[in-house]
Amino acid sequence: MAVSYDVLKSPDNDWDQVWIGANIATMAGAAPYGSIDNAALAIKGERIAWIGAAAEGHCRAQAQGTNVRDAQGMWITPGLIDCHTHLVYGGNRVEEFEQRLAGASYEDIARAGGGIQSTVRATRSSSRDSLYESALARLKCLMAEGVTTIEIKSGYGLDLAAERRLLEVARDLGETLPISVKKTFLGLHSLPPEFAAQRQRFVDEVSGPWLTALAAAGLVDAVDSFCEGIAFSVPETEQFLRAAKKLELSSHVHAGQLSDIGAAQLAAKYAALSADHLEYLSAEGARAMAAAGTVAVLLPTAYFTLRQSTPPPISLLRNAGVPLAVATDSNPGTSPCTSILLALSMACTLFGLTPEEALTGVTRNAAQALGLSKDVGTIEVGKRADLAFWRIERPAQLCYGLGGNPCAAVMYRGKIRDL
Ligand code: NIG
Ligand code: FE
Repeated sequence: MAVSYDVLKSPDNDWDQVWIGANIATMAGAAPYGSIDNAALAIKGERIAWIGAAAEGHCRAQAQGTNVRDAQGMWITPGLIDCHTHLVYGGNRVEEFEQRLAGASYEDIARAGGGIQSTVRATRSSSRDSLYESALARLKCLMAEGVTTIEIKSGYGLDLAAERRLLEVARDLGETLPISVKKTFLGLHSLPPEFAAQRQRFVDEVSGPWLTALAAAGLVDAVDSFCEGIAFSVPETEQFLRAAKKLELSSHVHAGQLSDIGAAQLAAKYAALSADHLEYLSAEGARAMAAAGTVAVLLPTAYFTLRQSTPPPISLLRNAGVPLAVATDSNPGTSPCTSILLALSMACTLFGLTPEEALTGVTRNAAQALGLSKDVGTIEVGKRADLAFWRIERPAQLCYGLGGNPCAAVMYRGKIRDL
């Protein structure tokens, strides 16, 4: 390997660690999975400094006296990104699971005061510590599967103090553990009973003083609304998105999970980062999302849990050019799921994504769905060294297993993390 003296002396070569002996799925570039076989990856501080052939990386590392580590044939992917979760909540909904198995529908249970309202009751009566501990246990499962960035929504408090507590717990998880947390104020999730006769007043409160207070406390990266027949209408959601836009906050929308009321078009109108679920989506909705650059976040484990039979229109989304992301939707009602690998498998088997599309959906496109593309989601020079190391033979294997976890190690901001 001919490497010039000048290159070896270049100040750019001031690396902290070099990994050799890896196959890297960069998730960028033209090759399938952006993969580079027998690659080397150099890291400086918390950033990726260089990617190239193993022999050259090794040679440069030796010239600099950099620590060389051998990945022993493992695959390296970007750290995975779970871009849609409701991770922090009290209690569980196992009784509703039994009711649905006995024939009740999700909507029936919600209209009878169960569903989200049952979790709101359990959440309001939970202490901050117990909310933290139960979310921590779920988060550790996701982290063990290579997740280095997670989005966490509020939405089970539905009064200002309880929503604040959920967002604070989300913040604390991110400040305590080696993982990035994006906090979403899901103010319009369900109408709480104390506002039963005052719908408009609730939307006004959420979009006005609550949003202002939570944003001022640094607890809101984005907002979200459950825009659905059983939840909030398009005009109600629009009021909330407009308020968020005034504060320069991003938005997401739960759209088309149970019916198509035009939520995807609304998300696009406000250039939402993502519209999520989308089992019910028109061609017009897909076109609007493509034009706005709004990512479609697919949630196959929720579809599975509710035993739905109309999958999202994947070809329509593909043909329109909408980026597809995949997430767990981890929540007590529709997706008691703490495995992003299971979501990958179901994205392929239930929705027909290719393994490459599914993996792009938890890396590059999930980063876009959180507005984080500059920093994470692909393995490229300048991006954060958030990486997952896998004992697999080829990337599709990440979508193949049902149970089991081939994750051998995780790097967060340039450091191998302990769990
Ligand atoms: O993403 N659809 C709205 N929100 C959640 C479910 C909430 C619940 O049932 O607790 C979802 O599926
Ligand atoms: Fe959700």
